[in-house]
Amino acid sequence: MTKPTLWITRTLSDATLQRAQRDYSVIWDPADRPGTAEDIIEMSAKVDAIIPCHSEYFSAHVVGQLDPRLKIVANHSVGVDHCDLDALRAKGIAVTNTPGVLSDATAELAMMLMLAAARHAVEGDRIVRSGAWDFWSPAFLVGKQVTGARLGIIGMGGVGRSFARKARGFDMQIHYHNRSRLDADEEAGATYHADLDSLLAASDFLSLHCPATPQTVNLMNAERLARLPKGAVIVNTARGNLINESALIAAIESGHIGAAGLDCFVAEPGGNPAFAVHENIVMMPHVGSATVKTRDAMGFKALDNLDAFFRGETPPDRL
Ligand code: DGY
Repeated sequence: MTKPTLWITRTLSDATLQRAQRDYSVIWDPADRPGTAEDIIEMSAKVDAIIPCHSEYFSAHVVGQLDPRLKIVANHSVGVDHCDLDALRAKGIAVTNTPGVLSDATAELAMMLMLAAARHAVEGDRIVRSGAWDFWSPAFLVGKQVTGARLGIIGMGGVGRSFARKARGFDMQIHYHNRSRLDADEEAGATYHADLDSLLAASDFLSLHCPATPQTVNLMNAERLARLPKGAVIVNTARGNLINESALIAAIESGHIGAAGLDCFVAEPGGNPAFAVHENIVMMPHVGSATVKTRDAMGFKALDNLDAFFRGETPPDRL
């Protein structure tokens, strides 16, 4: 039987590439460059399936020009804001994502950013590394204690729930805002806020775990940042455009926001140079899911979805 043809846009894990090459006729460029609109349109006439990452944009304009040969876009990501789902559906192209398997890795990074932002990790590292550590004082690098503090979580999908479990290990008081209230088992004593403003007022630390949609873009604007208690720490491992970056810089400069831990930016790659002058902003280059275990799991989930599709079944993570 002829193998379906598959374009893998980026360098996925070795195990994923090996399994893909066993079961599909794979096109993959080790140069590992993001696919452009032109690449996507051109490849759609050559392949039955694409495994893209969030670095390839399937806008309505691109989707409108896709060749009918392309049958499925099996994303190697849980977030699908790089895909115009309505346009893909209208074109009859199946779309899948990789929920669940990256929740723990992303929540680990959120925890790291929260702790690092709260305890001046960037400044401390710089001081020791540069040889500038020439004094000690009880007033030196005094941070904000995480243990026992109130943590607000926006979005209680897989990542938000995993983060809440980890935060319970720090005896944090969990508050959350979500489209719907969790059942008692999942809630496990957390306080539900149907109203976002009420959550913000109760968040010494705030972590964002919701998808980027037209409803959530700019969610944390100047007005909402102002509703956080003075000195609050904000963490974002979801999508950059959930936060208005100019408003965050203003809130950091005024001291209203004490620190921030960011893995996502409006402009990626690159980030926002205006953040770089503030040592109380800890930054990572969108690597929440970047662990060996999780990269394998994401790749295998994307392939599981493709396998089901080409067996004539509904892929488990079809959107
Ligand atoms: C995701 O899966 O959405 C992560 O941001 C990596 O792409």
